[in-house]
Amino acid sequence: MPADLSPIDKAKFVAARRAVEFVESGMKVGLGTGSTAAWMVRCLGEMVREDGLKITGVPTSTRTADLARQVGIKVVSLDEAKWLDLTIDGADEFDPELNLIKGGGGALLQEKIVATASDRMIVIADAAKEVAQLGAFPLPVEVVPFGWQTTKALIEETLGAMDVLGQTTSLRMNGDHAFLTDEGNYIVDLHLNRIGNARQLALVLNQIPGVVENGLFIDICDIVVVGHGDGRVSVRDISGAVSEEGQVEFIETTNLFSDLGE
Ligand code: A5P
Repeated sequence: MPADLSPIDKAKFVAARRAVEFVESGMKVGLGTGSTAAWMVRCLGEMVREDGLKITGVPTSTRTADLARQVGIKVVSLDEAKWLDLTIDGADEFDPELNLIKGGGGALLQEKIVATASDRMIVIADAAKEVAQLGAFPLPVEVVPFGWQTTKALIEETLGAMDVLGQTTSLRMNGDHAFLTDEGNYIVDLHLNRIGNARQLALVLNQIPGVVENGLFIDICDIVVVGHGDGRVSVRDISGAVSEEGQVEFIETTNLFSDLGE
């Protein structure tokens, strides 16, 4: 029930609730991954079931696809949809220029492909995700399993020439095994503390053989909807300005709050 939600979950929920107001009937919508995006998928499902909203969803992970189908959203692949009107997704960090770190949930590859194939990307986040400079959150880099230790060593060598504060890296684990992405790849997390030039780092990392993609989203996000635990939401556009401040009410709807999933 909403009253039982932690302030952080309330913040995620209100950001999601405001962001789905950008969705119109007939749209093809990219569906992000993570705990904030899961709220958005539930809100959209409610609009489909109760308000007759007609959308086609393109999920960014198998877990989002499962949730979307469960709540009644029609799901197709990106190849079927080809181009999307809008993608709504969470983020691990966003900076004043709306550049992002993503991939805390390991879905950065599909997330970046889907967001890039969209007219607009809207990020939904609690206020704690806002940073002056990216890098406190470890930067996820997806690498192919073949020769991953060599790829990791090459990444570390490359970091030596970059404007970053930390240079340690770690293979993401799932219990005793390497974490596997939906594409069967590994994730190497880069503990950089501060990234001086995110644009340069994003380009350089993707030049390393074995690197599939990195979690820096540069010039991809158009709008960030920031939620707070007391229900306040603000909408930040690409100019960096807050274009709207508002309040979202917590309305209890059994369907929306019955499955707290992720
Ligand atoms: C998934 O791979 C990530 O990019 C998520 O979007 C990001 O980690 C935010 O997740 P939460 O909404 O769970 O914080």
